[in-house]
Amino acid sequence: MNALNFLGVTIKLCIEKLVGIILSGFSDDLYTHSCNVCSISIKIAQHAGLSQQKLKTLGYGALLHDIGKSCINKRTLNKPDRLTDSEFRLIKTHTILGKKMLEHIEGVGEYLPLILYHHERWDGTGYEGLSGDGIPELASIITIADSFDAMTAPRPYQKRKTMFEALTELNLNKGTQFAPQFVEAFEDYIIKHLKGSNLPQSEIKKCQVFNVPL
Ligand SMILES: [Fe+2]
Repeated sequence: MNALNFLGVTIKLCIEKLVGIILSGFSDDLYTHSCNVCSISIKIAQHAGLSQQKLKTLGYGALLHDIGKSCINKRTLNKPDRLTDSEFRLIKTHTILGKKMLEHIEGVGEYLPLILYHHERWDGTGYEGLSGDGIPELASIITIADSFDAMTAPRPYQKRKTMFEALTELNLNKGTQFAPQFVEAFEDYIIKHLKGSNLPQSEIKKCQVFNVPL
């Protein structure tokens, strides 16, 4: 997916370069994840009817959302076994680390809340304890895209979910973990995408969305 121009949303070259230099040099998986979260987030926001300006902010913020992980050692990030409590606490700091990495750089202020709050939960039990409409709406979109990509990406420590399994998981947790209106916008996008494919039912199973098998 080309993150530089997605649905007519042009992502600033400097942001793309920043993410590319830091994340692709650090981890190809993290770089790919950031680009995936960017494209999925924009699809959700577009189907929710958000403005073009918000789509741009969202695109940049999504590319940057996990940049704080570049401060955490790869052995912990990629550990195939269950994390210890201290390792889990360390990984949880990536939202604050990401904000601190960028907060003194001019022109990126609007992306900082998306980095800091992308692990909030709708019920208030996330990293910083924001809840419901108190969570910046663009951050709550990134949360959904982030979870969807994490569930459907091949990772050494988990069985990859199909797209329908991941959508089911989002649906089961809307209103507790995820913002309901944006889960519904994402489902709406997927349904329209599949209808638009004009595929017979028997063929739809072979179709892919975001390179994720159905
Ligand atoms: Fe994250």
